Amino acid sequence: MSQSIDTYDFRGKRAIIRVDFNVPLDEKFNVTDSTRIRAAIPTIKKVLAGGGSVILMSHLGRPKKNNDDRFSLSHIVGEVEKLLGTKVEFAGDSWGEKAAEMAAKLQPGQVMMLENLRFYAEEEGKPRGLADDASDDEKAAAKKEVKASQKEFTARLASYADVYINDAFGTAHRAHASTALIADHFPGDKMFGYVMMGELKAIDDVMGNPQRPFMAILGGAKVSTKIVIIEKLMEKVDSLILSGGMTYTFASAQGGHVGDSKDEKEMHALALDILKKAKEKGIALYFSPDALCGREFDPNTETKQFDVFEIPDGWEGMDIGQKGIAKFVDVIKDQKTILWNGPVGVFEFDKFATGTRAIADAIVEATSKGAFSLIGGGDSVAAINKFGLANKVSYNSTGGGALLEYIEGKELPGVAAIRK
Ligand code: 3PG
Ligand code: MG
Repeated sequence: MSQSIDTYDFRGKRAIIRVDFNVPLDEKFNVTDSTRIRAAIPTIKKVLAGGGSVILMSHLGRPKKNNDDRFSLSHIVGEVEKLLGTKVEFAGDSWGEKAAEMAAKLQPGQVMMLENLRFYAEEEGKPRGLADDASDDEKAAAKKEVKASQKEFTARLASYADVYINDAFGTAHRAHASTALIADHFPGDKMFGYVMMGELKAIDDVMGNPQRPFMAILGGAKVSTKIVIIEKLMEKVDSLILSGGMTYTFASAQGGHVGDSKDEKEMHALALDILKKAKEKGIALYFSPDALCGREFDPNTETKQFDVFEIPDGWEGMDIGQKGIAKFVDVIKDQKTILWNGPVGVFEFDKFATGTRAIADAIVEATSKGAFSLIGGGDSVAAINKFGLANKVSYNSTGGGALLEYIEGKELPGVAAIRK
């Protein structure tokens, strides 16, 4: 049975908290967007204020081997200390003697952090280092082996603590040792943290009982990763803006010429099917009629606007054009519920940030007139932060893939493990 973080007695207890500190770092390993760290602070403070101690655990990126410094959580300890206002001892390991010793010595009020859990294959429970030509038998044997050692890994993590808190909404769609399996070691002492609680409520509110009109804005790079969500959203929303990289796949599917833009040809049939379904259901789909294109994927590349159906070879669509901006802004500003996932252009490059900025401004305007706006996905939240608009929208989700899977109606392993 799960407990409530609000009423649990943390006095003298060691709490192991799964956070999602998978944050973007620059080339000098500075944290460039600390949204996910800031989000987890109330949960950590709650345990400390209640007389407990804290063991933080997270993944960072997708390392494929142990001790790959580029993915070491040591790079973010300073940022966590700064935002928490408390010393954080770094264990330098997650599964070794040192982590166990440190955890055993923890005193109330103290915080320690484990090294990147994904340094070990056991976190994900997927074999590593298999030869490309491994036989099915070899694959099965390797899988069996890592599943067995995953049990030990999970038990070791659990042994550090008296209570387990899952506050990693961004990773809740993964059935990993630290996000799901570990919960079984704490049958009466497991709970959600405040990030998890807030996320689930915000999304449940939006999807369960949205004020209308309800619009979803989907951007990002690929159609293939968004296709299921488009279909799910069509059951809920009144209108959809489909933008970002998928613009060109949709244009190409309808016979347009998209130059060097991203065109997922294997998705054409699905794209046409979506257009047909939207028509049948009476859902308005909005696409940008024009694109701001670049010569190459470079912040300083030459730029020019083209009709999305007539992009010459040698040019790549990297943002929406002026007509698209006008159209999108016009339809966004009167919405009552807005879900935004994925930037409409390559906003990391200033030349191609105009469209995403205009979308963000229009969402802020709608919000100021009473709309509920939910922003999700690492890139859209990074964009909102870059523009300094984070506190002018209703809710910034720390989830990307997790948010989309939850909206799709899938059971998230991280959520199920606490609830069951
Ligand atoms: C994310 O940023 O998507 C989460 O931290 C989960 O990471 P993953 O996609 O590598 O599992
Ligand atoms: Mg992801």
